[in-house]
Amino acid sequence: MSSNNNQAQLSGRVGIVGTGHRARLYTHSIAARPSLELVALCDTNSDRMDHHNQLLKEAGRPQAKKYAAEDFNKMLEDEKLDILVVTTIDYTHDLYIVPAVKKGIKVLTEKPMTTDVEKCKKILAAVEEGKGSVQVLFNYRYNPVHWKVAEVIAQGKIGNVKSVHFEWLLDTVHGADYFRRWHRYKDRSGGLMVHKSSHHFDLVNFWIQSKPESVFGLGSLSFYGKEQGQKSGWARSYDRARDSKEAEDDPFAIHLEDEPGLKALYHDAEHIDNYHRDMNVFADDITIEDDMSVLVHYESGVNMTYHLTAYSPWEGYRVMFNGDKGRLELECVESTHRVPAKKGGDGDGVVHGEKALKNEGHNKITLQQLWKEKEDVPYVQASGGHGGGDEAMLAQIFGPLPNVKPTETPITGLSANQIDGALAMAVGLAANESFKTGKQVQIKELLGRQL
Ligand SMILES: NC(=O)c1ccc[n+]([C@@H]2O[C@H](COP(=O)([O-])OP(=O)(O)OC[C@H]3O[C@@H](n4cnc5c(N)ncnc54)[C@H](O)[C@@H]3O)[C@@H](O)[C@H]2O)c1
Repeated sequence: MSSNNNQAQLSGRVGIVGTGHRARLYTHSIAARPSLELVALCDTNSDRMDHHNQLLKEAGRPQAKKYAAEDFNKMLEDEKLDILVVTTIDYTHDLYIVPAVKKGIKVLTEKPMTTDVEKCKKILAAVEEGKGSVQVLFNYRYNPVHWKVAEVIAQGKIGNVKSVHFEWLLDTVHGADYFRRWHRYKDRSGGLMVHKSSHHFDLVNFWIQSKPESVFGLGSLSFYGKEQGQKSGWARSYDRARDSKEAEDDPFAIHLEDEPGLKALYHDAEHIDNYHRDMNVFADDITIEDDMSVLVHYESGVNMTYHLTAYSPWEGYRVMFNGDKGRLELECVESTHRVPAKKGGDGDGVVHGEKALKNEGHNKITLQQLWKEKEDVPYVQASGGHGGGDEAMLAQIFGPLPNVKPTETPITGLSANQIDGALAMAVGLAANESFKTGKQVQIKELLGRQL
């Protein structure tokens, strides 16, 4: 892997489908680059599209034309897009990726690429027609601590990797947020194994440069949901936080009106689609897991033990690689602890990923070669959402911002294509299948083909 300092400036006409919270990152970054023009927005909710046009106005850029979701194909016909950004809810990504790729458009889709095998097959077939392309926006690859780990492994400093031990903790603010929104329904998000862990499974595929072969997993709803909440004593009985007295001091509630972005996108827009983004995490209709243990075997012979918890007091992760020449450890503390927010607060930190958290802890990469002492591995310090990964990814995709000196650019090979997207998702789907059947799942059989 080599250094890549040639960040080309991308130009052209851009459309965004799915104008929710995550899309704001792309609206801002397109608006900040004169070579790009955001010409079209598409969503089921017109107010959320208006919010994005307001962001364009504030940036001094022209308004984008709004299209209802059912007019997506008309948008493709009329707007002659060069690039389409897909930021809808997970189970709908394929509806937009497939026709856009078939029209020869460069599609940038948020993760997970999609949520089931049939949809995945359609996306792979569309790309195989050879007209357009798909890039899956795995921003975690661009976080400097992550590409540094890839670099150290690629340099052979721990020899051949034999096993990986990976634990990821989501705290009771960020973790709880998956249980308040559409993510809590498995048919919409694929559950945390697909929605969240596909980031982590992609990182492992990228770090060890191998493909997953088989998966065994155990998963349960251990903390959220009515039954578990009543057992632990955390449960309250309201349906949603808005207008609920009981939710005002509930540490697990979110108060949309306290944060301007959440207020504009959801509180003020729910009269259109009745989408409630502030549901009680201790309700009885949750269909995803919050505590998952997974074993993955890779083609290279590597075995991984992986665990995800969504109700931890601190947030972060630890990854250990055992090689035949040494061991590499990564520890990242994204929040050391959380303070409960009450209604009427400043709304700061309630949404994950926009910026570093107030109680951010340390990041540390430690290398220990056999028969030697431990050493800290230096890495580029970055700031911003997702450990600096968002900004680095945007600079790589769209080119550096005008008048901004690019940060030291990561190693090459960071961009993820449709095969990377499929393999990351497949580990999560296989884990879900294993939770149900109690059996080990072969990725090739699950996908019906070798990738
Ligand atoms: N990489 C990351 O770090 C990261 C972070 C957050 C979200 N995401 C991803 O971004 C995507 C959007 O997440 P979000 O948090 O912005 O969600 P969101 O709920 O805020 O936004 C989703 C948008 O999609 C729209 N939508 C729903 N159904 C639609 C349909 N059928 N057609 C068109 N639009 C539809 C909704 O109205 C909403 O505006 C998800 O795929 C999520 O996994 C990635």
